[in-house]
Amino acid sequence: MKRRQSQRPTDSLRPRLALGSTLLLAAACLLAACDPGSNSQPAALDVSQPEGWDDELALRIAQDLNPDPNVLEIALEAKLADLEFLPGTKTTAWTYNGSVPGPLIRARVGDRVIVHFKNRLPEATTIHWHGLRVPNDMDGAPGMTQDPIESGGDFRYEFTVKDAGTYWYHPHIDSSAQVGRGLYGPIVVEDPNDPKEFGDELVLVLSDIGLAESGELLPADSGGKFGDLFGREGAVLLVNGKIRPRLKVRAGKQQRWRIINAARARYFNIRLRDHRFVRLGGDNGLAARSSDVYSVLVTPGERADLVFTPADEPGAETMLLWLPPDRGYGSQFARPREEMLLIETVDLPPVTPAAIPAQLRDVEPLAIGSAIERSMDLTITLGNNDVVMGINGKPHWQAEVIEAHIGETHVWRIINNSDFAHPFHLHGYFFQVLDAARVPEWKDTVNVPSKSELAIAIRFDERPGMWMYHCHILDHAEAGMMGHLHVLP
Ligand code: C2O
Ligand code: CU
Repeated sequence: MKRRQSQRPTDSLRPRLALGSTLLLAAACLLAACDPGSNSQPAALDVSQPEGWDDELALRIAQDLNPDPNVLEIALEAKLADLEFLPGTKTTAWTYNGSVPGPLIRARVGDRVIVHFKNRLPEATTIHWHGLRVPNDMDGAPGMTQDPIESGGDFRYEFTVKDAGTYWYHPHIDSSAQVGRGLYGPIVVEDPNDPKEFGDELVLVLSDIGLAESGELLPADSGGKFGDLFGREGAVLLVNGKIRPRLKVRAGKQQRWRIINAARARYFNIRLRDHRFVRLGGDNGLAARSSDVYSVLVTPGERADLVFTPADEPGAETMLLWLPPDRGYGSQFARPREEMLLIETVDLPPVTPAAIPAQLRDVEPLAIGSAIERSMDLTITLGNNDVVMGINGKPHWQAEVIEAHIGETHVWRIINNSDFAHPFHLHGYFFQVLDAARVPEWKDTVNVPSKSELAIAIRFDERPGMWMYHCHILDHAEAGMMGHLHVLP
């Protein structure tokens, strides 16, 4: 029996949802977070998620070896492991602790994190803690902040996690190849004060992998120069290392999705029919305000923090879809949508969703009155036989190191006249995108669409040292679209 909800129109009731059936009205009402006082459903906060709701998506959690509640001490080993991605086949993937993705590192804001890292790969590697404000010598930039960790070698990483939010870790040597083979893992830094209304947490690591029919990994340089130019997307789409896993939900019962794009080149443009999401923020946790979004674009390296309110009728099954995103030249042409995640709404009566606060956090705009300006042109040069990517026309191996001083605020204009979109990432510091149309938030990775430009403001407030910035299409970074920034005391 579908309960007929209050039909009082609300601001967020979109016409395409008002199709007349009681079911759709109920769904629309759920979407619009109807006033909990207007009906007798149980409140979402009082009921739990369906039994086994996230079983197929469960991530391994890095085990804490330290009894001190404020210290998270873990062992991380990079090694080859045989995994089954395509049913009935074997893939020898590159893994952290034997799984793809690697274990979830879950800490609380302010915790000390110690990582005993062992490299048991056949090649040198390092770990970069994407988005975390770590000390410079913990940043994982080979030859800059540390020596490569050779095959058989060990390294101790140690830092304090200063900011709540969703982050991730990955290698910074031959990164397109190493990430493409499976080396990436999620990090969640919890803020114990986050409202319960955000819902039960689900970490979703999105990626892809290039596999032969036999299950073997395709060569890391598949596609040659075209692979460099377009960025290598594996044809097999993965959510938490699985193909099209199942998620169980209960109508009205909210979930907080922490989404990480760990693919080496693929953009994720996510949509769920007849649903909107409430976006809470992204790279550095909460944005200033929550906002409604109908499709969610997460470019490589970026994160999205969303509330998902299931609004299908009990018993329904639906697919979370990947839609071809526009990342420039030919990237959408003749590409079909793909299925990412099967969402099963269990056969239990709907519950009344909790209201999500509108104001989430104070994000003070950086004062840019006396900022130092710099422009960075993301460039692609096609030679006879090669593709050179760079910043201001120079690949990173020819570029000069740029400088900043502690205490300075910079405004960087990032210009993209190339035929491809580029997700621009800065190590070590969060920035603000100078665009009044966006909800204010702190970011570390931002998409710069083809034939466009944007400006970011950065304050270099602490932690002098050598930091990197680069395109997070890792094939582009390797082909030269990367640079070094020396922050001087
Ligand atoms: Cu996730 Cu240098 O990047
Ligand atoms: Cu790029």
